[in-house]
Amino acid sequence: MSDQLAATRRAAFLRAEIERHNEAYYRHDAPTVTDAEYDGLFRELQTLEAQYPALHTADSPTRRVGAAPLKEFSPHRHGVAMLSLNNAFSSAEVAAFDQRVREGLDDMAAVDYAVEPKFDGLAISLTYENGIFSRGATRGDGSTGEDVTPNLRTLSCLPLRLAGSEWPPLIEVRGEVLMFKGAFDDLNARQRERGEKTFANPRNAAAGSLRQLDSRITASRPLSFFAYGIGAGADALPVKTHDELMKLLATWGFPVADERRVVCGAAGLLAFFEDIGARRAQLPYDIDGVVYKVNQLAAQAQLGFVSRAPRFAIAHKFPAEEALTVVVGIDVQVGRTGAITPVARLQPVFVGGVTVTNATLHNEDEVRRKDVRVGDTVIVRRAGDVIPEVVASLPEKRPARDLFGGEALHPPFFMPTRCPQCDSAIVRGVDEAIARCSGGLFCPAQRKAALSHFAARRAIDIEGLGDKLVEQLVDAALVHSPADLYGLTQETLAGLDRMGEKSAQNLLAAIESSKQTTLARFIFSLGIRNVGESTARDLARHFGQLEPLLAADQAALQQIPDVGPVVAASLAAFFGEPHNRQIIERLRLAGVNWPDSAPAATGTRVLAGKTLVLTGTLPTLKRDQAKALIEAAGGKVSGSVSKKTDFVLAGEDAGTKLENARQLGVMVIDEAAFLKLLNQGD
Ligand code: IVH
Repeated sequence: MSDQLAATRRAAFLRAEIERHNEAYYRHDAPTVTDAEYDGLFRELQTLEAQYPALHTADSPTRRVGAAPLKEFSPHRHGVAMLSLNNAFSSAEVAAFDQRVREGLDDMAAVDYAVEPKFDGLAISLTYENGIFSRGATRGDGSTGEDVTPNLRTLSCLPLRLAGSEWPPLIEVRGEVLMFKGAFDDLNARQRERGEKTFANPRNAAAGSLRQLDSRITASRPLSFFAYGIGAGADALPVKTHDELMKLLATWGFPVADERRVVCGAAGLLAFFEDIGARRAQLPYDIDGVVYKVNQLAAQAQLGFVSRAPRFAIAHKFPAEEALTVVVGIDVQVGRTGAITPVARLQPVFVGGVTVTNATLHNEDEVRRKDVRVGDTVIVRRAGDVIPEVVASLPEKRPARDLFGGEALHPPFFMPTRCPQCDSAIVRGVDEAIARCSGGLFCPAQRKAALSHFAARRAIDIEGLGDKLVEQLVDAALVHSPADLYGLTQETLAGLDRMGEKSAQNLLAAIESSKQTTLARFIFSLGIRNVGESTARDLARHFGQLEPLLAADQAALQQIPDVGPVVAASLAAFFGEPHNRQIIERLRLAGVNWPDSAPAATGTRVLAGKTLVLTGTLPTLKRDQAKALIEAAGGKVSGSVSKKTDFVLAGEDAGTKLENARQLGVMVIDEAAFLKLLNQGD
């Protein structure tokens, strides 16, 4: 056998092997060889093709890695024009479409429709000659698009050679190139890591990745494809319906979406729209609506086209989730815990079904990363019930001139150094994304938020004390801290807006009844950072009373399961603030109270009914901390050892008390054993 012949055979074998492994890997998620073995086959094929260029066929899998960059894309004239779809935005428009279809078919009976997602990517046309992928192009103006063949070759989900046999000698397969949401997030994370530009959404990422002059870049991008139709070559196919056509395309090796149905009449169309609309956020790829197509191909032909769109199909669009608008200002908002959030004030824009005037910019780093500036045109997104956000700025649309013809200044955003509400310093910890106002309850914004939190149903529970009323009380300087609520009277309330005698009475009654609470609710109501309802409950259960909690230091707090250094530090910082202790004291003096120690807890507390004696210096716990822990666990601390003493907790330099314990046979434990004992109760 000649070298040439041997090489030809070997190359054919390698191509088949590689395609088989690709199929197993990409289509069935079930790799059949290790990466190293695969790379070995691949490199061998590349070497052979370099040696014998005739072997470097158009359908060779080595084409998928991309080729040297092009200077520009060449135009590609589509065999059959790529048309667009008319849109429907309401049920009435869908019903009217169905009506037109039935009239056009001279048959008023219900029509079957093939329904499928409207993929949010970019349309492409793939030409196959004798089953081999020969050309791929974007839609362009519908007649002529850009030839992006080398880029499309890199899409591992596209067949370079058609499977099966029922394909005509020339066929144009139409579909959408897109990027799955997960792949998009990964790509953006990678881009960010490398300090490269990120993409605003999967559609832009797909378009940007496909329209690369260097196909090696496309090869590194996770692009997908869904087929949805045929251009040239449609006449000769052995199918009668669109649904059969999709199944046939799948047998040739094209990905087609699972989310396809055949439904009957307008009611069927609307039911599919509702169903997929409800699942839209969970789909792994973005869709911007659904497409309805008359299922019978003969009926499609009878209906034909009007100007540049088919009469037999329509796109039923969701309200757009993204829109362009202009940033008229950037403010910062102060949250309950002082977190400062930059917010873009926008020219009102209708997006996601509502008019949006503000959108979050998350934090300082995000504003910088997206380089959002006042005057910029931005993409705003509102998906479902999610808070509207600024996705990206379009700096190319930044006006060069201001309103008076002067050179427009667009300074980048800087986080203010002082809180706009109370003028306290804004601080941001190292390694923290969030900046915070350091004003605490001096800051009216934090004060209002803290009061609303205090009064909430799950906290101290003052019925009728909502955000609006809290705002009035703080602005009128009637209330500065939660403790002031308990000093309110009918007279002081009388001056407030829309506060009749009856409402004032109701509010005062609600404040009065809030005094009977539980320790867990009380702790939660204080609004300590990182202390949610469940931590508050754990603390209440562990300590039983407030005093030992106030006495506990960070080491003692961390003995509680689920309390780590962050929560312990928050608690210590909060209780270390004399101002906060004062408010707690005033609340208790005003009559806020809770059952002393929850009776249910008594039985489970490990030291219930036990007497301990402390002696010597413990390695970490101070004397009063150890005492607080003993009491919190239900035990008593005594000054001298007797037969009734259950344990002597001894540290270094223990004196006569240790001697006595030994003589009386009382159990002596060290700090480690003591802490272990405490943990048994949890
Ligand atoms: S059929 C003659 N089906 O929507 C009709 N188009 O406005 C050809 N699109 O540019 C289109 N998903 O990119 C069809 N399932 C789908 C589609 C779909 C997305 C896009 C396509 C086209 C635009 C039409």
